[in-house]
Amino acid sequence: MTILYEQWQQQADQLVALLGEGTHVVGTADELVERVNNDRDDYLVVLGPSTPLAEAVGFAQQCRLRRPALGVVLLRQFLDVNVMSEALRAGVREVVDSGDPAAVLAACARSQDLSRQLASKPRTNGHALPASGAPLIGSSREGQVISVFSAKGGVGKTTIAINLALTLAENGRRKVCLMDLDLSFGDVAILTQLTPERTIADAIPVADRIDETGFRTLLTPYRAGVDVLLAPVQPQQAEEIGRELIGELIQMAREEFDYVVIDTASVFTEHILAALDATHHYVLVTTPEIPALKNTRVALDMFDLLDYRREARTVVLNRSDAKVGLTHGDVEKVIRMPIAGHIPSSRDVPVSANVGVPLAVSHPNHPVPTALREFAAKRFEDGSAKPKRGLFSKGAR
Ligand SMILES: Nc1ncnc2c1ncn2[C@@H]1O[C@H](COP(=O)(O)OP(=O)(O)O)[C@@H](O)[C@H]1O
Ligand SMILES: [Mg+2]
Repeated sequence: MTILYEQWQQQADQLVALLGEGTHVVGTADELVERVNNDRDDYLVVLGPSTPLAEAVGFAQQCRLRRPALGVVLLRQFLDVNVMSEALRAGVREVVDSGDPAAVLAACARSQDLSRQLASKPRTNGHALPASGAPLIGSSREGQVISVFSAKGGVGKTTIAINLALTLAENGRRKVCLMDLDLSFGDVAILTQLTPERTIADAIPVADRIDETGFRTLLTPYRAGVDVLLAPVQPQQAEEIGRELIGELIQMAREEFDYVVIDTASVFTEHILAALDATHHYVLVTTPEIPALKNTRVALDMFDLLDYRREARTVVLNRSDAKVGLTHGDVEKVIRMPIAGHIPSSRDVPVSANVGVPLAVSHPNHPVPTALREFAAKRFEDGSAKPKRGLFSKGAR
C-alpha cells in the first residue's frame, strides 16, 4: 500500500484521487513514522508538497538505513536544483512536480518496481549479497570488467562502450571483448556494421556446458584487438538467457581478454545485475539535464544498496559542453560525485552512427575519442592488465 503524508486535506484528497483508493493518508510526522513501523508491507511513501524539506530529508535518511526497500517520493510545487540535490542526497528516490500527475504516477511506479526488486533479492544480514567475487581493481591477473551503465536511455552508453573498447585495444596491443548486453535492443551490431551471424543467443542451447572453444565461436571479430559478443537478433530471445549464463560468459571472456567492456540497458534486470555483480569498474554515463542527473543519483543509491564498491564507480558526463544552464558544479552537486570524464557534444557522433563507423576508427584524434582515451588512461591503464597472447591477439584482422 502507498502511504501519503500530506497535512492539507484538499491537497491530500486530490492526491488520493490520483494515487488510488488504497492510499493511506497520514497528517503528522508521528503518524507517518508509526504507520511505517507498524506495516512492513508498505513499499512507497509519497511526501506531499506541504512536507517541510527538513522533515522529508530526516525521514528519507532514516528509511535509507532501516528500510532500504521502502521508496520515498517527494512532491514539490516548484522544482529547484538545491532542493532536489539535498533530497536525493538524503535518499529520496525521486523529486517530482506535484502539478504534473503523469510524472507523479510514473515516479511512483518506478519506485514500486525498484522496491519489488529489492524486496525479492536474497539478502544476508540485511544487505544485498556482495558482488560475486569481483576482486579489487588491479588484484586480478584476469581481464578487468568495465560496465557502461546509465539509469536513463539515450545518454550515450553504446557510443561510449564501443569507442572505449576500441580505445583500450590500441590497435591490437591489448585484447578487448565488447559485450552487448542490451539484450532486447542491442545497437552494437548496427553501429559497427557487424552481421549478427553469431550472437549470445547461440549460447542458450549449450548454456550449461559451454567451454573455451564454444565461447570463441560466439564472438564476432571486429577490429585489431576487439571481438564482439553481439546481442540476440530477436528481442524475445533475451528472456531465455539466464543470469548464470551471463556470469559464465563474462568469466570466460576474462580468461581470454585484457578488458571486457559491457554495454548495458538502462534497467536493473537479472541480466544487467549479473553483469554488474561481475564488474570491476562501473562507468556511469550521464548528461547535463536534470532527469538524467536525477536518475544517475537514483542509480548510485541503488548501487549502494547492492553493495557495489564506491571506489569502483566513475561518472562520465557526455555532451558535457552543452550550454543548458547547468555548470559542472551543479551537476556534481546533484549526483554527489565528481565527474571523472567529460565527453564533448558533436554532430559527428550521430553522423558516425549513421554510417556505422565509430569515430575511434574513422577519426581517432577527434575530440570525442580523444576525451575517452584521456579518461581511460587515467582510470584503467594502471598496468594491472597484462597483454594476453593467444588466438585472438594476432593484431589487425
Ligand atoms: N557526445 C555526443 N554528441 C552528440 N551526439 C551524441 C553523443 N553521444 C551520443 N550521441 C547520440 O545520442 C543518441 C544516443 O546515444 P547512444 O549511445 O545510443 O545512447 P544509449 O546507449 O545510452 O541509449 C545517439 O543518436 C547518439 O548518436
Ligand atoms: Mg544503447
